[in-house]
Amino acid sequence: MNSSDHVTRPDLQTVRLALMLAGRAPSVHNTQPWRWVFDGTRLQLRSDTDRLLSSADPLGRQLVISCGAVLDHARLAFLSMGWFAEVTRFPDPNLPEHLATLEFWPWPGALNTTAARVRAIHQRHTDRLPMQAPDGWLDALSAVRELARPHHVAIDEIPDSSRHRLAAATEHATALRRYDMRYQTELHWWTGHSDVQEGIPVAALVSDAEAARVDIGRAFPSAPYSARRADLVDQARLVALSTLGESPSQWLHTGEALSEVLLECTARGLSTCALTHITELPTSRSVVAELVPHPDIPQVLIRIGTAPEDNTPTPPHRRPLDDVLDIRPAPPPRRA
Ligand SMILES: Cc1cc2nc3c(=O)[nH]c(=O)nc-3n(C[C@H](O)[C@H](O)[C@H](O)COP(=O)(O)O)c2cc1C
Repeated sequence: MNSSDHVTRPDLQTVRLALMLAGRAPSVHNTQPWRWVFDGTRLQLRSDTDRLLSSADPLGRQLVISCGAVLDHARLAFLSMGWFAEVTRFPDPNLPEHLATLEFWPWPGALNTTAARVRAIHQRHTDRLPMQAPDGWLDALSAVRELARPHHVAIDEIPDSSRHRLAAATEHATALRRYDMRYQTELHWWTGHSDVQEGIPVAALVSDAEAARVDIGRAFPSAPYSARRADLVDQARLVALSTLGESPSQWLHTGEALSEVLLECTARGLSTCALTHITELPTSRSVVAELVPHPDIPQVLIRIGTAPEDNTPTPPHRRPLDDVLDIRPAPPPRRA
């Protein structure tokens, strides 16, 4: 090893710590559809298509968005450990599952702007209960718009006056899915179990009585009866994350922007819930498309609000790092 090796790559322990933190990223149904490959110098992010939701997400759009979220979480985690990760997206056109390669540079001073979002990684979780209107909303909205801009992802607030249209589209999507056996089998496979390392456990779901007070949300298997936040009917604000096109690269960027938005909101003490039940089906997606500036294509909605401090939902577990990380030594340099 020569001395320059020390300054151009984090050691394995740092990589493991950063990726464990990154693993807290949100993913559709908590599928965690990613793999990491570390060759001692560079880190690859690959999608794990065995975890594709073939009914809800046949094209893998949400799978790639989820991978974008873990990519952004990883970038922040490495920064907090003194490493700037330079990201090359889709480096091999013949290998679409190879989503990104990360190369590292020492970066001692980056924490000022990102420290709050790094801390938020531990605190963030999806909140499916009704929320109060978000405190400090206009400041938060302008901050998240700035964070999404480098990814060319637009953030549009859905005005309250249009909310009933999304509620109607939610009802329509739920009705279409009620007797869709492939969709229901997949949903029940991934949700509603206890003490699991993947999927959405029953502790993170809501009861029918609670769901009835949230007009825009996915219909999940219901949790046992409880009436948390009993005095609240959902007053969360809704934002749509949209792109100008529909390519895997734009999906990956959407996930990166989603991660930034969720973490920034968490850092500001706000609660969040990503929503895609409404962008999975063409009919309900077209309703959202009518509410954002043309020609933006809506990818994900987020409910953002303030939660009373009690009864925050239990965040789901994650897979062990060794299930998602391969260590493959780089081939030795050729002799001259
Ligand atoms: C692309 C994507 C789509 C999602 N769609 C929904 C959704 O439609 N409804 C919902 O309640 N949560 C949704 N989520 C949140 C995930 O279920 C959640 O991130 C996952 O269960 C892990 O839990 P955590 O966010 O509490 O860590 C989505 C997350 C992502 C990244």
